[in-house]
Amino acid sequence: MTPKPFMVSFALAALTLSTTFCLQPDQQKVLLVSFDGFRWDYLYKVPTPHFHHVLKYGAHVKQVTNVFITKTYPNHYSLVTGLFAENHGIVANDMFDPILNKSFSLDHMNIYDSEFWEEATPIWITNQRAGHTSGAAMWPGTDVKIHDSFPTYYLPYNQSVSFEDRVAKIIEWFTSKDPINFGLLYWEEPDDTGHSVGPDSPLMGPVISDIDHKLGYLIKMLKKAKLWNNVNLIITSDHGMTQCSKERVIELDQYVDKDHYTLIDQSPVAAILPKEGKFDEVYEALAEAHPNLTVYKKEEIPEKWHYKYNDRIQPIVAVADEGWYILQNKSDDFLLGNHGYDNALAEMHPIFLAHGPAFRKNVTKEAMNSTDLYPLLCHLLNITAMPHNGSFRNVQDLLNSATPKAIPYTQSTTPLLSSEKPGECEQEESYPYFIGISLGSIIVIVFSVVFIKHLIHSQVPALQYMQVEIAQPLLQA
Ligand SMILES: *[C@@H]1O[C@H](CO)[C@@H](O)[C@H](O)[C@H]1NC(C)=O
Ligand SMILES: *[C@@H]1O[C@H](CO)[C@@H](O)[C@H](O)[C@H]1NC(C)=O
Ligand SMILES: *[C@@H]1O[C@H](CO)[C@@H](O)[C@H](O)[C@H]1NC(C)=O
Ligand SMILES: *[C@@H]1O[C@H](CO)[C@@H](O)[C@H](O)[C@H]1NC(C)=O
Ligand SMILES: *[C@@H]1O[C@H](CO)[C@@H](O)[C@H](O)[C@H]1NC(C)=O
Ligand SMILES: *[C@@H]1O[C@H](CO)[C@@H](O)[C@H](O)[C@H]1NC(C)=O
Ligand SMILES: *[C@@H]1O[C@H](CO)[C@@H](O)[C@H](O)[C@H]1NC(C)=O
Ligand SMILES: *[C@@H]1O[C@H](CO)[C@@H](O)[C@H](O)[C@H]1NC(C)=O
Ligand SMILES: [Zn+2]
Repeated sequence: MTPKPFMVSFALAALTLSTTFCLQPDQQKVLLVSFDGFRWDYLYKVPTPHFHHVLKYGAHVKQVTNVFITKTYPNHYSLVTGLFAENHGIVANDMFDPILNKSFSLDHMNIYDSEFWEEATPIWITNQRAGHTSGAAMWPGTDVKIHDSFPTYYLPYNQSVSFEDRVAKIIEWFTSKDPINFGLLYWEEPDDTGHSVGPDSPLMGPVISDIDHKLGYLIKMLKKAKLWNNVNLIITSDHGMTQCSKERVIELDQYVDKDHYTLIDQSPVAAILPKEGKFDEVYEALAEAHPNLTVYKKEEIPEKWHYKYNDRIQPIVAVADEGWYILQNKSDDFLLGNHGYDNALAEMHPIFLAHGPAFRKNVTKEAMNSTDLYPLLCHLLNITAMPHNGSFRNVQDLLNSATPKAIPYTQSTTPLLSSEKPGECEQEESYPYFIGISLGSIIVIVFSVVFIKHLIHSQVPALQYMQVEIAQPLLQA
């Protein structure tokens, strides 16, 4: 072995190792968590120390405009596709598709028909097509076969499986021999309690505290598995919740004969399918029926909702004002809390926090669209986004490498670390950073010892000169 190539390769190896560890802590890993119905301001209702810890060391978006209708399935699918409901096809929790002549119902867990989901491709599939692996613990739709695929690892939906068991699976998948780079975790609360007692009830306090404990548990388990410093954790939700009251009920039976239409979805956005030849009668009967009910013919639905161009949106759509409840008959089921209303209403907005190596610390952003999460996820996972309605540019400032770049509207594949300056690296007080520095230093020391030994033994002045040059940048690193 001649001294020169030996030295050069050593120097290169040292440089590569230290920059790799420093600038690229790890393959980006992402864990996306949804606490169903966690309204943006629940954080401040009772002490939530774990949420506040994430806030302090991560990024926070105060107002997230989700998609209309502000229901569970439409919004969870928007989070993982970046599409409006009319574009991804999951337009409600309860749907009827007149072309397929098929129904979909969350209430009856009749949600497993692939055709309802295949107007879009969720991110776990795109991630897998790019050669990565995904793992899903109860996230809505992840146990449905979509375009012939399931997540690499997933749990069949079962509400009775504890949060702790779901977390255990996520940790197992992140630490397995073929580890996932993308995990999805879902929990049913505080939505369930929000519906039954109403968000203004003091009974919400203990539920929010309990979720804070659950977040604490998740953080503890991530730390135990040595994942806390290299997983990008995003905590969000599908929607908020508003207080309802028996004083604010709109009873359809008072205005229109129930034999003249089918009520596909009920409240607060009634999806009305008139019987053959009954369209005008039903529409006329409802149009001016109640001051807190706005009734639209399908083609008149406001563009701002992006809720029109889909066969599963019914010919008549009646939208209740905030806090008003649509019932066919007063004796039907009534809930003290509900959501689904106009997505411009703050009470419909979910929480959004992000923590991890990719995110800035202790920053608050005023607003984003929930469709922007999708291109952000694609960027973190280093996959090419499918066509979507979000904007990476609008959320890029949540990231550490936030130097403005010209990024086309839907392009999401910019290498994550290309704009990192060595200076920024020093502020990153993460575990991989210290490993990088330590390894780098050890290699530099070993290299110097070998170099000095070589100098002592070498009698060739020209070579000595060259080696000093090679060593220079290393000693400054
Ligand atoms: C739609 O499906 C129902 C059964 O679910 C059937 O009775 C009806 O005939 C079907 N309609 C058409 C047009 O195929
Ligand atoms: C759902 O989970 C519970 C708790 O783990 C378990 O006892 C039950 O058997 C599961 N149900 C189904 C259908 O798998
Ligand atoms: C309900 O309608 C009344 C009468 O138009 C209006 O004053 C009130 O603001 C409406 N309620 C809501 C929540 O919009
Ligand atoms: C509402 O339901 C009750 C109980 O099922 C029934 O007695 C009543 O006739 C219904 N009202 C209308 C207008 O259909
Ligand atoms: C977070 O930022 C605020 C100002 O925006 C500052 O007062 C606070 O000290 C910061 N906290 C940490 C932990 O850096
Ligand atoms: C949300 O999207 C709309 C258009 O799609 C855009 O005008 C608006 O600025 C976006 N909001 C934020 C906070 O980025
Ligand atoms: C991103 O993916 C491309 C291939 O699609 C690969 O060449 C590149 O190394 C990846 N970047 C990172 C940071 O993993
Ligand atoms: C949303 O994205 C889809 C897919 O790219 C596109 O077809 C649709 O026109 C977009 N909607 C709007 C309002 O831009
Ligand atoms: Zn709900």
